Amino acid sequence: MSKKILLEHINVPGINTLAVYREKGGYASVEKALKTMAPDAIVEEVKKSGLRGRGGAGFPTGMKWSFLAKPEGVARYLVCNADESEPGTFKDRYLMEKIPHLLIEGMITSSFALGANSSYIYVRGEYFYIIKILEKAIADAYEAGWLGKNILGTGYDLDLYVQAGAGAYICGEETALLESLEGKRGNPRIKPPFPAIAGLYGCPTVVNNVETIAAVVPIVNNGGDWYAGIGIGKSTGTKLISASGHINKPGVYEIEMGITVEDFIYSEEYCGGIKNGKKLKAVVAGGSSVPILPAEMILTTASGEKRLMSYESLADGGFATGTMLGSGGFIVMDETTSIVQNLHTFARFYHHESCGQCSPCREGTGWMEKILHKILDGHGTIQDVDLLWEIQRKIEGNTICPLGDAAAWPVASAIRHFRHEFEEYVKNPAVIKEVKHYHNMHNLATA
Ligand SMILES: Cc1cc2nc3c(=O)[nH]c(=O)nc-3n(C[C@H](O)[C@H](O)[C@H](O)COP(=O)(O)O)c2cc1C
Ligand code: SF4
Repeated sequence: MSKKILLEHINVPGINTLAVYREKGGYASVEKALKTMAPDAIVEEVKKSGLRGRGGAGFPTGMKWSFLAKPEGVARYLVCNADESEPGTFKDRYLMEKIPHLLIEGMITSSFALGANSSYIYVRGEYFYIIKILEKAIADAYEAGWLGKNILGTGYDLDLYVQAGAGAYICGEETALLESLEGKRGNPRIKPPFPAIAGLYGCPTVVNNVETIAAVVPIVNNGGDWYAGIGIGKSTGTKLISASGHINKPGVYEIEMGITVEDFIYSEEYCGGIKNGKKLKAVVAGGSSVPILPAEMILTTASGEKRLMSYESLADGGFATGTMLGSGGFIVMDETTSIVQNLHTFARFYHHESCGQCSPCREGTGWMEKILHKILDGHGTIQDVDLLWEIQRKIEGNTICPLGDAAAWPVASAIRHFRHEFEEYVKNPAVIKEVKHYHNMHNLATA
């Protein structure tokens, strides 16, 4: 049985209310932090914990916090990234919907550690019902004295605001998010300067993911060393995984870092195996932007070990044979899945979501989508497959923000591992008819 930290009380009736949350020990980290700890001591605990950002990049949280500039007389901000628009990723929604006070508690404790007196939760526009849940929880927290002026009589003031985005994937990128929060179009900024130096309204700002901020609560309660003792190597603690696709039990799971991928897919505790007894074909392990791996590679690392659910193990072998933990969006595909069709869906998404600032991303994502469409229409050639490869290579590393890379990696990995499938499509367009027929039937059957 894996350790539950963030989801420990998730099934307690009424845990979404302040009263029940308090009964289960809620807001203890605020009391401890504000009454007994200096802000820098909290940053030290987070550093010790080894916590890495849960939004995708996996950057060490304590280190990020310690980069925050502290000029005299200048405001500092904590911004929670609850944009969560990566296809296949839905863990933050679950946390905010079921246990909103955990995020609010994390926001207060983290804001205190960073010296922020105004903090923001930037929520994806489509999560309008979650905005209501958060607003209610925040109002209750104000009423109980956990927010506002002179919290717990300690002299610390904090105002917490919820801001709705308009539902643009790019607004999850931290600098685009800040632009949007300032009321502008969500175009990513060129870095440096990083938000820690010049973020919201030009002031030092930390942007963290929902799950990252929630994890600060148990870290402050139990200490950084305790958290660092959970998990494996530099992948400490637990991680929320959004599991979807051809599995028996889709859902959000909290895993201890270091369990095997095989266990995660096949055990009853998690995904419960592949639906209808079919064979595993491929997995996208960390949201649509990470490289897709065929069955044998997702189960086994380049060095021949069982692959683990951890930052290091999933990346083992680099992008040739590895992938990324990313945002934890684990999409499982069975033997009937068309990789080309799946890739076309992703390409359409990235083309639609490109903000258009950089030519390689703006033009390349559209070009890749068109070529994939041509192949799926039965008019593709081998040269088109080679062209796809070349286009993705020209995008990767040549753009202002990582959305370009996110669009390129799925294409690169699909061609690298499933080139035979592209070739089958271009050499024998009749295969496409069969595949499309299967998927249409499947969609009808499950509609
Ligand atoms: C296109 C794009 C979309 C992103 N979307 C999200 C998101 O929805 N939520 C999130 O936390 N991070 C997202 N990120 C990563 C953020 O830029 C940033 O790294 C993260 O919020 C930092 O938080 P963390 O250190 O707690 O992981 C996205 C990045 C890119 C390039
Ligand atoms: S990579 Fe794409 S999304 Fe990111 S700034 Fe450039 S054009 Fe915009």
